[in-house]
Amino acid sequence: MLILGLESSCDETSVALLEAKKGKFVLHKNFVSSQIKIHKQYGGIVPEVAARHHVEIITPLVKEAIKDVKKIDIIAVTAGPGLATALLVGVETARALAYLWKKPLVAVNHLAGHIYANWLPNPLPPPYSKGETRELKFPILCLIVSGGHTELVLMKKHLDYQIVGETRDDAVGECFDKVGKILGLPYPGGPEVAKHATLGNPQAIKFPRPMLDSTDLDFSFSGLKTAVLYYVKTMKPASPAGRHLNNETINNICASFEQAAIDVLVAKTIRAAKKNKVKTLLLGGGVAANQNLQSQLQLAINQSLLNTKYLTLNSQYCGDNAAMIAAAGYFKALKKQFTPWDKLDIDPNWELR
Ligand code: KG4
Ligand code: ZN
Repeated sequence: MLILGLESSCDETSVALLEAKKGKFVLHKNFVSSQIKIHKQYGGIVPEVAARHHVEIITPLVKEAIKDVKKIDIIAVTAGPGLATALLVGVETARALAYLWKKPLVAVNHLAGHIYANWLPNPLPPPYSKGETRELKFPILCLIVSGGHTELVLMKKHLDYQIVGETRDDAVGECFDKVGKILGLPYPGGPEVAKHATLGNPQAIKFPRPMLDSTDLDFSFSGLKTAVLYYVKTMKPASPAGRHLNNETINNICASFEQAAIDVLVAKTIRAAKKNKVKTLLLGGGVAANQNLQSQLQLAINQSLLNTKYLTLNSQYCGDNAAMIAAAGYFKALKKQFTPWDKLDIDPNWELR
């Protein structure tokens, strides 16, 4: 089965060609065109600008992806959650192609895509190995950590999602981005904060660990962000954001903030894994690229003697990409969960349930 995947929910336009052969995935193409440089000048994503760039780039990417291909079997596209104007570009493109080629269409939830990124062949020597599908045993727990979501998702079988914990306010990626902004670092803050954190002391400042001791599996990150804001303000109240801070202070704030966020993420994930006796633990979403999060989760699993296999995600699949959408689309296609082209619509608030 040859799957054309399309993703345009936020600031990455991506088109992928994924083949499922006897249950194994071979990734032929995974083009990702990032708009980071464009949005950097605004310090955040401007939805209309994002949509315009998706429109400009998506057709050339599709053309390039299918240039040596005789026949696509299905089209998988992100229908939500995300920015409405951005989602529309991928969905309208998919609808037009499905109509023209008379091919089945699969609507994919972006968060399901982040989970199913873990089924893609890994590790991949460049350009791409002739891949394998990873053997993942259920029940599976996936910690989704992205710019818009922080969720602990329990899966007892394919396409069956139970949210056992989620953020009550900001997503952790959003919190990384805001801390970056407070410190005057370039957009997006997440990777910048992570870079500075490797040079700082995670014990330098005692930031709060919100909801660490609550008995549920939920998160809250807005208080942590505010704690960083107040810490920076009290250092020199009259100065513009971040500019007065020397490098050592910035590194220590980043390391201490990151450690506070990771402590909560890891503790709740381990608690959820124990409670639900999961066999496989996964990470998904942009923040999953964070090396300290990956290594500390691994350490916590070893220390808690959990009988859980933890799989790290190849960093090229952590951020938004269409290969993960094609992978999720494949499992929906196996269950014949198609949407007719004239019924497909975006759902900017589509919840994974
Ligand atoms: O999944 P993603 O690419 O887009 C959404 O679906 O939101 O996630 C983007 C988020 C951003 O907040 C970005 O700053 C964050 O992931 N991010 C990181 C790192 N790399 C990306 N956060 C922490 N450490 C990183 N290394
Ligand atoms: Zn994402």
